[in-house]
Amino acid sequence: MSENHENRIELLENGPVYFKGDIKVQNSAGETVLEKEKVALCRCGQSTRKPACDGTHRKAGFEADCNADLSDIPPNESDSDGKLVVKALDNGPLLVEGTYTLVTENNGEYTSDKTIALCRCGGSSNKPFCDGTHKQIEFKAE
Ligand code: FES
Repeated sequence: MSENHENRIELLENGPVYFKGDIKVQNSAGETVLEKEKVALCRCGQSTRKPACDGTHRKAGFEADCNADLSDIPPNESDSDGKLVVKALDNGPLLVEGTYTLVTENNGEYTSDKTIALCRCGGSSNKPFCDGTHKQIEFKAE
């Protein structure tokens, strides 16, 4: 990776979330399942290749915009550029640890190092963040 790379999180309307940069995807046990510079992870909950997106969001009619309520996420102007670890929790969200720039439609590019949980069950009413709905809908994903 170049010295000045940044880790970016980009939301695709009605589709997956793209992670770009120095990305490591782990399972709940902390084992690395993917290590890439660009990866699309499912956020509709329907992919057969979770945590990766397999395009099922189109068939499923998944609807999600690219906005995010960032009021609980403090900005971080530091340009530290470590690895971004994305943990796909069993039956739950994607836990994102590290410094990232989240690209949203309503807030533009927003850099922070606050750990965030992104919905991957498709059911949250606070997308892209997890609001606990995965428990109510008994989302299953390992
Ligand atoms: S993973 Fe969707 S609400 Fe938690």
